Amino acid sequence: MAAVLDSVRAFFAPVTFTIDMENPSDVVARETLLDRVMGPDRRKKSSEIIRRNRVPAEGLALVARDRDGRVIGTVRLWNVEAGINNEGTPLDALLLGPLAVDGRHGGKGIGSALMRAAILEAKNRGHGAILLVGDADYYERFGFFADKARHLVMPGPFERSRFLALELVEGWLGGAAGMIVPSGRMLAGAPVRKAA
Ligand SMILES: CC(C)(COP(=O)(O)OP(=O)(O)OC[C@H]1O[C@@H](n2cnc3c(N)ncnc32)[C@H](O)[C@@H]1OP(=O)(O)O)[C@@H](O)C(=O)NCCC(=O)NCCS
Repeated sequence: MAAVLDSVRAFFAPVTFTIDMENPSDVVARETLLDRVMGPDRRKKSSEIIRRNRVPAEGLALVARDRDGRVIGTVRLWNVEAGINNEGTPLDALLLGPLAVDGRHGGKGIGSALMRAAILEAKNRGHGAILLVGDADYYERFGFFADKARHLVMPGPFERSRFLALELVEGWLGGAAGMIVPSGRMLAGAPVRKAA
């Protein structure tokens, strides 16, 4: 009964957040939120190898804001090459993450709103597929499944059952095989790796 009442309350609750493009003044709040929600080990993840020193894909850094404009949720997507296709051509795709919502605002639909906005924006911008590493129980509701990524690998340790993909263009990942590598723009001032 309590669960039913909770969902009825949630349904009629006023919308208390908005989804917005991230802007430079959000960076500190976003990083503080990520540290709090994901913990200090977040920078050791394989996905971080792809994000390090890169700029997110154009128009695909989103935040959720409370009524006062404070950042209470974040999601970003990154340009990658997802192995090669059947013709041996590198395949453009996006890697999503991290997605995080301030625990004090959990369960209000903010994570879902960020995901739906990100998927729609990626589709409108002509991207073919989105990959991510996360809980299938959460991401399957948005159409992400492990099957589509079965011949792809992350550039570091990852759990196969948590490596998921969504095709925005049907068949985009058909035949995709190989390693995910970053292909996005470098951050200004990022260290340049010298040739050996
Ligand atoms: C996962 C996260 C982004 C969800 O944000 P949110 O705003 O609370 O999500 P929503 O309100 O849109 O959805 C809540 C639903 O997702 C479910 N859910 C949340 N996290 C989940 C998970 N890891 N696995 C499965 N279901 C999950 C909740 O049980 C709830 O289910 P219901 O709709 O049946 O009640 C948030 O909990 C978070 O930041 N977690 C820590 C960071 C993290 O783990 N991010 C990556 C997710 S793998």
